[in-house]
Amino acid sequence: MYICVCNAISERQVQDAIAQGATDLGDLQAQLGVATCCGRCADTAAEYLPGGRYAADVGAAAGGLLGPVEVTVLSRVAVRQVA
Ligand code: FES
Repeated sequence: MYICVCNAISERQVQDAIAQGATDLGDLQAQLGVATCCGRCADTAAEYLPGGRYAADVGAAAGGLLGPVEVTVLSRVAVRQVA
């Protein structure tokens, strides 16, 4: 799923940038270019940052919080821990 349509930035790219240390929207703008055109994606991108609605998804996608995981994206609800 694209978070930023203007710059073709995917949810996964945003999650990876945060997992690698991005801590605010400015970091995401600098690293990915998200929210640097029309800006309509800024609020959504910010929801992936710590404290945001989708922040837990960042750890799950990176495998950092749950250990080895298999992530199945079915409208963002199914995360199953394996082994
Ligand atoms: S949708 Fe991200 S800048 Fe336009």
